[in-house]
Amino acid sequence: MNIIKTIAEMREEARENARRDASVGFVPTMGALHEGHVSLMRRSLEDNDVTVASIFVNPTQFNEQDDFDKYPRTFEQDCEILEAAGVDTLFAPEAEEMYHPRHQTSVAVAQLADHLCGISRGRRHFMGVCTVVSKLFNCVQPTRAYFGQKDAQQALIIQRMVIDLNFPVEIVVCPIVREKDGLAMSSRNRRIADDLRDSALTLVRSFGYACGMLKDGERDAQTLINGMMEFILRDRRVEVDYVSIVSPETLEDVATVDDFSLIAGAILIGDVRLIDNILVTPEGPARGQIEFI
Ligand code: PAJ
Repeated sequence: MNIIKTIAEMREEARENARRDASVGFVPTMGALHEGHVSLMRRSLEDNDVTVASIFVNPTQFNEQDDFDKYPRTFEQDCEILEAAGVDTLFAPEAEEMYHPRHQTSVAVAQLADHLCGISRGRRHFMGVCTVVSKLFNCVQPTRAYFGQKDAQQALIIQRMVIDLNFPVEIVVCPIVREKDGLAMSSRNRRIADDLRDSALTLVRSFGYACGMLKDGERDAQTLINGMMEFILRDRRVEVDYVSIVSPETLEDVATVDDFSLIAGAILIGDVRLIDNILVTPEGPARGQIEFI
C-alpha cells in the first residue's frame, strides 16, 4: 500500500489515475478502523480500479478539544487493516498539511444540519465535516466516495453538498455493520468500560422496542418516542441526547410513521457519545435493516 502524506503527492497520483482513465473509489475515515470501515473499503474495491482511503482526525469537526484529544489513534494497526483489505493508497496528511494557518473558508449545508446531531453538536460540526470532505475530494479526485449509514445525517448532508456544489463524485451509502449483539460498530466503542457495555446496547434495543410497537399497529411518532425513551431510561447509567423519528429525506420530525421514516438516536454512556439509526416502514424495519426477533 502506498502511504501518502502530502497534498502534492496525492494530486500527482490523482493525475496519474486520470491519465490511465482509472475509476477511483475513496473512503474517508478518521482511523481507529473496524469492520464498519472495512465494509466500505470492500465495496469500493469491488466497484473501482483503484481504492484510496484517508485517515485524518479532523480538528474542525470536534466541538470540544477533549473529545478530539481522546479520539482513538491506532495508525500502525490501521495500516495493517488497510493493507490486508487490499487498499491501494492511504492518504494520511497532518493537520498542518490540510489546514493553512490562515484558513478561513467553510462549506455549510443549511437545513439538513439543523436537525438530530446538528442540534446537540452544533452547526459547526457538519461545517467541519463538509469542509474537510470537500478538501479531501479536491485532493483525491474520486469517481465514487463511500459513506456509512451509521452516520445517516452525515451521508445525507454530503449527498446534498455534492449535488449543490457540482462535485463530479458519486456518493455510495453502505449499510451499518454491527457487533453480534447488535451494537453498531464505532471507533468510540473501545472507550466503553466492560461493565457499561450492556448500557450501550439500550439504544439499538429501543429500536427493537419501537419496531414491536409498530408491528402492534402504533403509528404515532411521539408515542413511539416516549416508549423508546422510557425503555432506555430504565437503565440509570444512560443519558439520552435525543431520540427522533424523521423523514429520511428532509430529517424533519414526522408526526406519524406512514411511510419510510428514520428512527435516530444519540446516547451518552459516561463521557462516550454513541449514535445509531434504523430505517423503518409502518410495518417495522425496512428491508436490509436489522431484524428484531
Ligand atoms: P469515521 O467516524 O472514521 O467514519 C468513516 C466512515 O465509516 C463514515 O462514512 C462512517 O459512516 C462509516 N462507518 C463508521 N462506522 C460504521 C459502521 N458500523 N458501519 C458502516 N459504516 C460505518 O465519519 C467520519 O469518520 C468523518 O466525519 C469523516 C467523513 C471522515 C470526515 O472527517
